[in-house]
Amino acid sequence: MESKVVELRCGSVNYFGIGAIEHLPEIMERYKKMGISRVAIITGRSSYRKSGVWEKIKPLLEALNIEYAHYDGIKANPTVEQLDDAVKMVKEIQPQAVVGIGGGSPLDSSKAVAVLLRHPDRTARDLYRKRFTPLEALPVVAVNLTHGTGSEVDRYAVATIPEDKDKSGIGFDCIYPQYAIDDPTFTLTLSLRKVLYTSLDTLNHAIEAATTTLASAYTVMLAREVVELVARWLPVAVDDLSNLEARYWLLYASVLGGIAIDCAVVHLTHPMEHTLSAVRPELAHGLGLSILLPSVIKTIYPAKGDVLSQILKPIVPKLKGTPKEAKDAAKAVEEWIFSLGVKEKLHDVGFSEEDIPELVKYLKKAQEGGGSLSLSPVPVDDELLRQIYYESLSPIK
Ligand SMILES: [Fe+2]
Repeated sequence: MESKVVELRCGSVNYFGIGAIEHLPEIMERYKKMGISRVAIITGRSSYRKSGVWEKIKPLLEALNIEYAHYDGIKANPTVEQLDDAVKMVKEIQPQAVVGIGGGSPLDSSKAVAVLLRHPDRTARDLYRKRFTPLEALPVVAVNLTHGTGSEVDRYAVATIPEDKDKSGIGFDCIYPQYAIDDPTFTLTLSLRKVLYTSLDTLNHAIEAATTTLASAYTVMLAREVVELVARWLPVAVDDLSNLEARYWLLYASVLGGIAIDCAVVHLTHPMEHTLSAVRPELAHGLGLSILLPSVIKTIYPAKGDVLSQILKPIVPKLKGTPKEAKDAAKAVEEWIFSLGVKEKLHDVGFSEEDIPELVKYLKKAQEGGGSLSLSPVPVDDELLRQIYYESLSPIK
């Protein structure tokens, strides 16, 4: 028996399943009874409308006589400026709660806005540079529209500080969404690329949370389930974007992945990707992760072969867990990702060998004062980071 105290977290009330959106009226009625009559709504440009969620929410707020201010300017990889703009726009009505609608970026942003509305003398830069520790935020309702981030059930939020090339993460108990809605019906409007990238994000959450120094039997169990579900249902969803059963299970996997990182965080792939997409904001998070994952597996396999051989079985059945399998495991995972149609490596998304020293420099700066690299199952130094970026420039040889 290992003598280690682990965290078993599940901080949000999550309504999950087809028709989960029908719980929104009772949530808003509850808020109304509690005296909440003004809410901020945080979204991206179009998915809140395209998904059909807006048609449900708007009449509901009007019927309950709940005033709202809607900021719809959150882009992928949102910056601290966007968050300050959002706060500036919605604070005019003095919101008492925040409703985020969308994927990871709008949901993360709604959490940050909920903190900043409670701390009017602070900016988003203060929050993401960790210049204060919030103990309070407005209540957040997260209406999730993708099957990737798990943001609707965790205590994390990320935003980019452009001048630092830092996509920085915060994690506070006060930003768990009070209520989360996961209705697979609303994920059907995702494009093929988004289906792939969000599901591969989930896969990375599971693999990292099962292998950090905070991992437990619980996160390994979650990872086993997540990998199995993604391996089974992602190819189905790719073949048929209208398959609701596939979306149901991919969404379920993303909730489990969110709970897993909430308990045991991440280690190498996520912080290394955050630097990539801070440098090139057009790079999708899930794509960046998928590019790095094979080399990260190769790097940590000698230390974590026992866990990786178990959880990767649905993708690479023959693994036994011995260190000499590291390269084969990495190549097999890479080939599986390629087989889904995600064939890019760092060279294909605009990075070259010359960029690597700078990437390592930004990454180290972002991790100053504590970061998830410290949870890596293998010791991390500059050479290891350089090696992973280098190996990810092109397919593993
Ligand atoms: Fe992620």
